[in-house]
Amino acid sequence: MRMSLFLFGLLTFSFSSFSDTIQFPKNFRWCVATAAHQVEGGNKDSDWWVWEKENGHIKNGEPSNLACDHWNKVDEDVALMKGIHVTDYRMSVEWAKIEPKQGVYDKEAIAHYKHEIQALKAAGIRPIITLHHFTFPQWVAKLGGWEWPDLPKSFADYTTIVYTEIAPDVKDWVTVNEPGVSILNGYVLGIFPPTLKRAYSGMIPPMIGMLKAHAASYHRLHDLAQKSGHEVRVGIAHHLRPMDPANWWNPLDHIAATVGDKIWNWAIPDALETGRFVFKVPFAVRTDEVIEGLKGTQDYMGVNYYSGDQLHIGFSGISQVPREELKKNELGWDIYPEGFYRILKQVHERYPKQSILITENGVADREDKMRSQFLVDHLSQIARAIKDGVPVEGYCHWTLMDNYEWIEGTTARFGLFEMDYKTMKRLPRASAKLFSSIAEKNELAEPLTKETR
Ligand code: FCB
Repeated sequence: MRMSLFLFGLLTFSFSSFSDTIQFPKNFRWCVATAAHQVEGGNKDSDWWVWEKENGHIKNGEPSNLACDHWNKVDEDVALMKGIHVTDYRMSVEWAKIEPKQGVYDKEAIAHYKHEIQALKAAGIRPIITLHHFTFPQWVAKLGGWEWPDLPKSFADYTTIVYTEIAPDVKDWVTVNEPGVSILNGYVLGIFPPTLKRAYSGMIPPMIGMLKAHAASYHRLHDLAQKSGHEVRVGIAHHLRPMDPANWWNPLDHIAATVGDKIWNWAIPDALETGRFVFKVPFAVRTDEVIEGLKGTQDYMGVNYYSGDQLHIGFSGISQVPREELKKNELGWDIYPEGFYRILKQVHERYPKQSILITENGVADREDKMRSQFLVDHLSQIARAIKDGVPVEGYCHWTLMDNYEWIEGTTARFGLFEMDYKTMKRLPRASAKLFSSIAEKNELAEPLTKETR
């Protein structure tokens, strides 16, 4: 008995490395992630649809239009995913399509998403559904978005429609994608709708609205699932970045890194654990608020990882200092695989009971010169974390195919498949083949040969 338990443990949970092959745990989830607005096209009732047509918001003034026409090519795209041995698909549904006017639900959109979920299941792919990925219906935005007092109720009602009409047997849910990115960009940097340029303290009201909406949606999903005898897991996709002082000898840089780390990485997940939203920037912001119903509303940690920051405080305020020694992606972001390991360790130390799902990780690389090595290096760091006891259950690569990269339009290319926008053809890059073979074998052969780099 003991021996068989031991063997079972070894087979299911152990992480083993033979020569230069790394085996991932049994049932590790191989996933690709997309967001509705970036791929579907025709999101005409959303706030972004109007906003992206206004002058200067998007690089080259490019609106999303048809995006990748995923709306009409959904079956083709499911086949594409199956072809690269994906076990899970992180997708979002578009509130603006489901409820284009307040209280008016679009039967066709609901039927469309229902079909998508069924097509995925028929292909043996588990959907992971995101309810909010940066976009609102125009009517919600007009009422104040995250700051609209009725938003939590409305968001929960939208959740009900998605769960009952579209996905009653989907287990994994993300209520909100990247709270920090969404609110910093929209309310302080003014580079996402609603294009506000507030002081940092101006992030607090929308953050609180968002947390309340998350809690309402979390409880709604659990109530509905319980009534129908299903199980759900609900979380948030957090954008996490290891933060370091730019200069080890500069105490101000240390303060910047410590404060940055606390508010950027942990303010939201801590709030989900404790029910208290604490957001403090010395001499600028100080909030400590208990939010009703928020405590314990995180069933797993969703982690989006792209890069890390070195922070410096100078005369002109806080700045990010690139790591000289690191390669950059096509948006100039440091490619920092080691940071992935560091942040995963930190998550596990902070929330030892949480299982971790990598909800996004990828690279802007049109020519596919870096993506294969990027995959190997980042997966190696995940494997290293698993070996050290960090419970990572799966990896969603951002993204299946090049798509509408928000303010970058179609200039930043993150896809395993290249989009030919003239023909709307999806063309596999070499990195798609590598991803496919890793996912199929559930193992990583490293290092890559020079030729594949
Ligand atoms: C993340 C977003 C995703 C995509 C990638 C590159 O911050 O969640 O939609 O834009 O960055």
